Amino acid sequence: MAEVLPLPVAEPSPEDRPVLVLDCGGQYAQLIARRVREARVYSELVPHSITAAEARARQPRALVLSGGPASVYAAGAPTVDPELFALGVPTLGICYGMQLMAQELGGSVERTGVSEFGKTDVRVDGESALFAGLPAEQTGWMSHRDSVAAPPSGARVTAGSPAAPIAAFEDPERLLYGVQFHPEVVHTPQGQEVLKNFLYGVADAPPTWTAAAVIEEQVERIRAQVGPARVLCALSGGVDSAVAALLVHKAVGDQLVCVFVDHGLLRKEEAVQVVETFEGHFHVPLVHVSAEERFLTRLDGVADPEQKRKAVGEEFIRVFEEESKRLGEIKYLVQGTLYSDVIESGGDASVAATIKSHHNVGGLPEDMEMELVEPLRLLFKDEVRRVGEELGLPERMVWRQPFPGPGLAIRIIGEVTRERLEILREADAILQEEIRRAGLYRELWQSFAVLPAIRSVGVQGDERTYGYPVVVRAVTSDDAMTADWARLPYDLLETISSRIVNEVPAVNRVVLDITSKPPSTIEWE
Ligand code: XMP
Repeated sequence: MAEVLPLPVAEPSPEDRPVLVLDCGGQYAQLIARRVREARVYSELVPHSITAAEARARQPRALVLSGGPASVYAAGAPTVDPELFALGVPTLGICYGMQLMAQELGGSVERTGVSEFGKTDVRVDGESALFAGLPAEQTGWMSHRDSVAAPPSGARVTAGSPAAPIAAFEDPERLLYGVQFHPEVVHTPQGQEVLKNFLYGVADAPPTWTAAAVIEEQVERIRAQVGPARVLCALSGGVDSAVAALLVHKAVGDQLVCVFVDHGLLRKEEAVQVVETFEGHFHVPLVHVSAEERFLTRLDGVADPEQKRKAVGEEFIRVFEEESKRLGEIKYLVQGTLYSDVIESGGDASVAATIKSHHNVGGLPEDMEMELVEPLRLLFKDEVRRVGEELGLPERMVWRQPFPGPGLAIRIIGEVTRERLEILREADAILQEEIRRAGLYRELWQSFAVLPAIRSVGVQGDERTYGYPVVVRAVTSDDAMTADWARLPYDLLETISSRIVNEVPAVNRVVLDITSKPPSTIEWE
């Protein structure tokens, strides 16, 4: 009799078995989701109110309860469905999440009167899955007032700190784990290892969420969504639209057409690079619209920042519409919506698209009756970059710092003219080159030159000059909501300054912006 062979069972795709991070109100919930993904395990952020039935339907590999600012005893403090703990799914509670578990599962939480904030010594006690292979003494970053006074019944205490004798517990039977410190922050040096121990050792989650896997998955999805229809994509020169376009092109080839509206407000050589990369290197069908003349005419006499934005935005839509009409019937439109946009909008696609368009190249026309293709919807920004690298996008595009949709128009303070654009472009190119040469480009959130349309007196050779100043603006930031001015080395500043005044004839002065946000903004307009 022939041997009966089991049918091969395909490994479920990472997204089909996510790690669900329950957001208990902590600023770190998103960070936890990112750290899990850095361990190559797919994770999603969900509200703490998710029910056990909803969670089970997702077949999660694991659950993580985030920290949060509330006290578990406070009225209206976030709670979770207690049935979650009976699902048999490995569960890790972090800080507030750990305290919720203790409270729900037969332990207790008390206000001990001793708080811990910042770096704290954590001492591991005995056998532990979370701390396997890690030193017995380590530093954990803490931020709590309440402490777990008794672990959940059946759980064993596996670590303590000076003010929190129960800094971690484990119940391997029920697969319940808790840590008082924050493994997701960089101030906990072994934190990522603790998370990996939980993901790989406890939850048996395979590290399959890689850039290559994302590409494969998205290509299939795009093909399934789009079928034989045509797809339109607006390229801006930024990494999001570039990666989105390349994914769609990989999926459906020349059914995709990209439109690149060059508004003449990009930095030096950026437009050429978009065209060379997409048309020359990737052979993506590309409509390159050189519309500098139109935008400059539209901006003629406009000095107010918001009027500039409006002018660029409206003109952009007009040009884009004209071009797409010329291309005939197209059913789909690519949007570079990111996972962080989806989270911000509470998961609503239309809101996410609106948020995105606010921040983007003027925004796309609202009344375009096209269905959206959103290949980056599941990705954080750093994942978009990794996918871009995997797809072979040039380093310069993959790592480009954020650049505003209205471009140099809002970096010229005053009226935008061709002459001023030229001056700013040259000065900015020198600044970029030197920042890159110093190896600082990726460390800085943004670095750029600003051209205020005022003049000041200088002297060059025997001659008195009356020229423009150029402002050097460089900031560090995580999300552009707040920013600190970057302490660039003096030698670098000196090189930037002397090169700009020597190589850009209209400029006779270079100044440095040393304000943070708030009270300033990153851009000058
Ligand atoms: P501010 O200047 O408000 O900038 O601190 C925060 C971030 O937003 C970018 N920015 C814009 N991006 N269109 C955009 O696409 C805009 O009109 C715009 N204004 C500011 C800015 O570069 C920074 O990253």
